[in-house]
Amino acid sequence: MSTQPNICVMISGNGSNLQAIIDWVEAGKINAKIACVISNRPDAYGLERAREAGIEAICLDHKDFAEREAYDQELMATLDSFQPDCVVLAGFMRILTSEFVEHFSGRLLNIHPSLLPKYKGLNTHQRALDNGDDEHGLSVHFVTPELDGGPVIIQCKVPVFDDDDADALAQRVQEQERSIYPLVVHWFCSGRLTMNNNKALLDGKVLPDNGYAND
Ligand code: GAR
Repeated sequence: MSTQPNICVMISGNGSNLQAIIDWVEAGKINAKIACVISNRPDAYGLERAREAGIEAICLDHKDFAEREAYDQELMATLDSFQPDCVVLAGFMRILTSEFVEHFSGRLLNIHPSLLPKYKGLNTHQRALDNGDDEHGLSVHFVTPELDGGPVIIQCKVPVFDDDDADALAQRVQEQERSIYPLVVHWFCSGRLTMNNNKALLDGKVLPDNGYAND
């Protein structure tokens, strides 16, 4: 990895996780350059956040491509032109082809709003409520071809209260996301975090299945 790693961030929407990472970079808490932000949706507010921070903001609209493979090829080529050391999925709401995932293997991170392996896929907050869970949370993991199945780096738990609806629960989870994801990006960019044999390692030590500081 170069002395100042290049990060590319992929988004589909609001970009609050992106903003948290921008803030850490600007504060010197992550030693990296955010080379570009790519959205698959033209109306993603995160593109505005990127421009505001002077970061190249690119929209690659998936609707312009007939097939997933062609879209992912274009994504890959665009990302490669920035020579990323790390590709950060921050609310990027599309399934990626195995070819894409393998191309960026070991440098592709994702944040998912559930305590994986629970609730892979969509509508995680509602599903936690429907199941009567008394705790919920988020996971940051390396991406592998299995959807939301790559090795977990860290998880954060939040309580579920009786009067919660999905929005209230999402807000509680997202508040935690904004401090956890930049921390993981910092670990990666300082060379402390790696993936080997489908395991996440911090400072050369294999992390437990549920990630760092699992209780
Ligand atoms: C976040 O809550 C993130 O965990 C979730 O999308 C939200 C994006 O918010 N990601 C997924 O559901 C991925 N499967 P943001 O655009 O404000 O960062």
